[in-house]
Amino acid sequence: ASTAATSVSISGDIASQLHGGYSHPLARAWQAEKQLTKSMLIYPLFITDDPNEESLIPSLPGQYRRGLNKLVPFLKPLVAKGLKSVILFGVPLNPAAKDALGTSADDPTGPVIASIKLLRKNFPQLFIVADVCLCEYTSHGHCGILREDGSLNNALSVDRVSDVAMAYAEAGAHCVAPSDMNDGRIRAIKLKLIEAGIAHKVVLMSYSAKFSGCLYGPFRDAAGSAPSFGDRRCYQLPPGGRGLARRAIVRDINEGADIIMVKPASQYLDIISDAKSIGKDMPVAAYQVSGEYAMICAAAKAGVFDLKTMAFESTEGILRAGASIVVSYFVPDFLDWLES
Ligand code: PBG
Ligand code: ZN
Repeated sequence: ASTAATSVSISGDIASQLHGGYSHPLARAWQAEKQLTKSMLIYPLFITDDPNEESLIPSLPGQYRRGLNKLVPFLKPLVAKGLKSVILFGVPLNPAAKDALGTSADDPTGPVIASIKLLRKNFPQLFIVADVCLCEYTSHGHCGILREDGSLNNALSVDRVSDVAMAYAEAGAHCVAPSDMNDGRIRAIKLKLIEAGIAHKVVLMSYSAKFSGCLYGPFRDAAGSAPSFGDRRCYQLPPGGRGLARRAIVRDINEGADIIMVKPASQYLDIISDAKSIGKDMPVAAYQVSGEYAMICAAAKAGVFDLKTMAFESTEGILRAGASIVVSYFVPDFLDWLES
């Protein structure tokens, strides 16, 4: 039997012998084109208009809505552990803060602008991304300004969304990230940044390929941004729309986006791969959204798999597909789990 084994390995194709190449943990890590590091991660924060609020979001395990006074004490240990970037979402709890135009989105005393200034002052090294949308601030919960028939008025919406982006950039956000999906908003924002003389110091990250579906549910609970009627299928992409996503990515690159984002992430790995091949000279980001996070937490809790193992497996899959930036609710965990 031992002669047979020897003759098989000698006469067999040498290239068939793979095990040795990944026999050591470091040799296994080298198999990945990119290894997950802390600098690839952006952590989402939900910021309310009640400065002392700190409340658990029931559908997003371990995630909280926080007021301004709770922000710095919460972030201090995370920054010490290597947190590099956050993305801010404003959550007005006061019902008077909502109207048809989303007027409070760029309220200079509102949670987003106030927290940009607070974080810039307290954490000079922290990279601050501001999500730009109207749905948290509109009475109807849609991501723009509506016509009488309930459809989005694209021209008015782009005007408004680009003004909000400017307000966040002028308040000191390092990056503005429009998630509204109105056509032409990247160009409008870039032009306003240029006109204001700040285009050279603001990163424009486009949620280019943002698909509609049920994976944003926990976020909408957290942000109170569920539409009061209808859905977002006339502006977010249909889940089967791979070609449409490619067109949106090409368009946003041509309109001046600096970073392309794909969202959700794990259900759309082919789109991440497309984004990287279309935008091969720019960073691609992926958002592992609230529903993906909640599913992983629920399955781990049910004993389906180990939470940490799946957090790594899902995030490494997103990197392998082509992303080099990941927006993730697992960031505080990764700061403990990763060495650099
Ligand atoms: C706002 C916005 C949403 C998310 C990011 N920005 C919700 C939506 O489009 O309804 C989703 C993030 C998540 O689910 O974690 N336009
Ligand atoms: Zn929105």
